[in-house]
Amino acid sequence: MSDGRILVTGGAGFIGSHLVDALLARGHAVRVLDNLSSGKRANLALGDPRLELQVGDVADSAAVETAMSGCAAVVHLAAVASVQASVDDPVATHQSNFVGTLNVCEAMRRHGVRRVLFASSAAVYGQNGEGAAIGEDTPKAPLTPYAADKLASEHYLDFYRRQHGLEPAIFRFFNIFGPRQDPSSPYSGVISIFVERARAGRPITLFGDGEQTRDFVYVADLVELLLQALAAPQVEAGAVNVGLGRATSLNQLLALLGERLGGLPAVEHAAPRSGDIRHSRADNTRLLQRYRLDTPTSMADGLARLLAG
Ligand code: NAD
Ligand code: UD1
Repeated sequence: MSDGRILVTGGAGFIGSHLVDALLARGHAVRVLDNLSSGKRANLALGDPRLELQVGDVADSAAVETAMSGCAAVVHLAAVASVQASVDDPVATHQSNFVGTLNVCEAMRRHGVRRVLFASSAAVYGQNGEGAAIGEDTPKAPLTPYAADKLASEHYLDFYRRQHGLEPAIFRFFNIFGPRQDPSSPYSGVISIFVERARAGRPITLFGDGEQTRDFVYVADLVELLLQALAAPQVEAGAVNVGLGRATSLNQLLALLGERLGGLPAVEHAAPRSGDIRHSRADNTRLLQRYRLDTPTSMADGLARLLAG
């Protein structure tokens, strides 16, 4: 990667805004392209002269073309991140989640920009990895428009790699958590919902017995990996799981939160969500072959940092 400006699509959102902070702290100039559908201006240090916000849509090829101008690399995070939104409105979310990726690829080709990091998801595996650590070669089973758009985006990025020399680094994020994750929808990340409820003293809903497990990754660890991928001399083909291989049950999560907060509001049990995955845990062998993650943030520390934020 040269020293030029980095384009971060979706940079006003949860993960994007943490990445933007880290890029600015390392001296990069950054342009954010975001339609502010879930992202917020308040997430960005807009007083910093090296940061530009272009309010626009990745589904609008002209907006992406403008945003690409003068950039050295791209981190493509813009997407409707709610899986349920894609189920409710597949046509609209496809514009953001797939057409947006294609527009980014085309604009990169035209501007001679090669390096792009892409936010794919563990959703591409559907239920297939359940019960064992999920490796990248686990058969794909995209069960929702969200997952289908992520998997299709991966394939298109690989086409542009082979055909046009793009250098895509494709990451399949597992469950990312941290400050600024929006808790406002019932389908938001479980940690953001539990923390908001606990702070407001409102009852927490636990779907099922709470023994389901997830591979939670603190957002700062993800950002560290993305920075390495931007700086790497080259990127190997093939998607990379971003998980820690660490299973935390929701009951363990609640116990940790209760310890931190000195108690919890009432926990109400509801039926398991239909289609809910019981156990989701990454095999991160490939991640650790390609990137360094020496001391991943423990759940306890991640929760402490979230609660302090
Ligand atoms: P987020 O909703 O906070 O961030 C998404 C950002 O993209 C927002 O700022 C939103 O305004 C913007 N955006 C949405 N549609 C857009 C469009 N058409 N044009 C321009 N901007 C648009 O969510 P997040 O958790 O930060 O997710 C970032 C990326 O990571 C997404 O691609 C998401 O699918 C992916 N991901 C997240 C997780 C997780 O656990 N948070 C897991 C897997 C994948
Ligand atoms: C997450 C991702 C999704 C991805 C999937 C891949 C988010 C928001 N979702 O889904 O994009 O497809 O990983 O593995 O990051 N729960 C409760 N109470 C609540 C909310 C949730 O008990 O109020 C439970 C859910 O039923 C589930 C667990 O918490 O068992 C995690 O839910 P959630 O944070 O929505 O993430 P995933 O379903 O794992």
